[in-house]
Amino acid sequence: MRHTGSGGSGLGIGPGGLLGALPRTAAFLVGSLSLAACEMGTVPATTLAPKSDYGRVSHDLFLSILWWDVGIFLLVSVLLLVAIVRFRERDPEALPVQVRGNAKFELAWTIAPVLVLTLIAFPTVRAVFRTQSTPPAGALRVRVTGHQWWWEFEYLELGFRTATDLHLPVGRPVALELHSPDVIHSFWIPQLGGKRDTPPGKVNRIVLRPTVPGIYPGQCAEFCGASHANMRINAAVETPADFDAWVARQKAPPPAPPDGSAAAAGLQVFKAGPCVGCHSVQGVSGGIVGPDLTHVGSRQAIAGGVLSTTPENLARWLADPPGVKPGSIMPNFHLSPADVSALTAYLLSLK
Ligand code: CUA
Repeated sequence: MRHTGSGGSGLGIGPGGLLGALPRTAAFLVGSLSLAACEMGTVPATTLAPKSDYGRVSHDLFLSILWWDVGIFLLVSVLLLVAIVRFRERDPEALPVQVRGNAKFELAWTIAPVLVLTLIAFPTVRAVFRTQSTPPAGALRVRVTGHQWWWEFEYLELGFRTATDLHLPVGRPVALELHSPDVIHSFWIPQLGGKRDTPPGKVNRIVLRPTVPGIYPGQCAEFCGASHANMRINAAVETPADFDAWVARQKAPPPAPPDGSAAAAGLQVFKAGPCVGCHSVQGVSGGIVGPDLTHVGSRQAIAGGVLSTTPENLARWLADPPGVKPGSIMPNFHLSPADVSALTAYLLSLK
């Protein structure tokens, strides 16, 4: 093996070095792929385990493009190796053969990428149109609004709103209408399909049909300010019966807190304080700046999905919202510990 580093080429790697590096590269790639495969079981936010027709389309596109890439990589690697071996420097003093242009080669390496890119473009464009087309009749319509920094879901025909938790029935087409009143967010639940932006003033759409029940995490995927990372989604795909039961609970008014309970005291704090200016609770208040809290106690998470819904977390959030979610529009109202405790009891009673 002869290294050319001290000789003419200055590349510092001879054919033997490159050949030696290939098995290591292959081992690294195989290792990475098997790691990714292992993680699919433990890390649910993946596009590699699609759970909707849209997710399946994206995944199939990814695989077809991956195989094109592997083919091109192998072809280029072989040509590179042939060139390195065949045209290596043999005599440091001799001037290499001088060549200028080759019409056939230049035509070939112009036309080949055009063909490959065209073959990739057709299924890609078709998938984009298909996943934002007019929804089929009977689709569940959900108006999705990206706010700084939480996601709102309004079930248009069913007449209620939720925040962070998105419930969908398995097998039924869903038409998501994406809005934003402030800046560009991007709605993304990796297992249910590709991400799509929410430019203010424009309505984007996602049409998909969930295929497997489960809870799939999502995340805003466009940098949108201080708490961009704290703008999450929990999508629960349920059997039609479970979904219908959930809908019935969402449409019902929340239970009135029993007289003399901590929740009843919390309701008084809620009504007398600043909460009603921004939040709705069916039958109590009608604010629309922050999330509708009618059934907040039944949601998996609060504060844009940053905290799971527990008494400790809710108290922590009420005591200092910007401390939990930097830049939070809900300010620190410096509530007394007694008010925090009463409000926590009330909000958790809203099942
Ligand atoms: Cu909203 Cu990033």
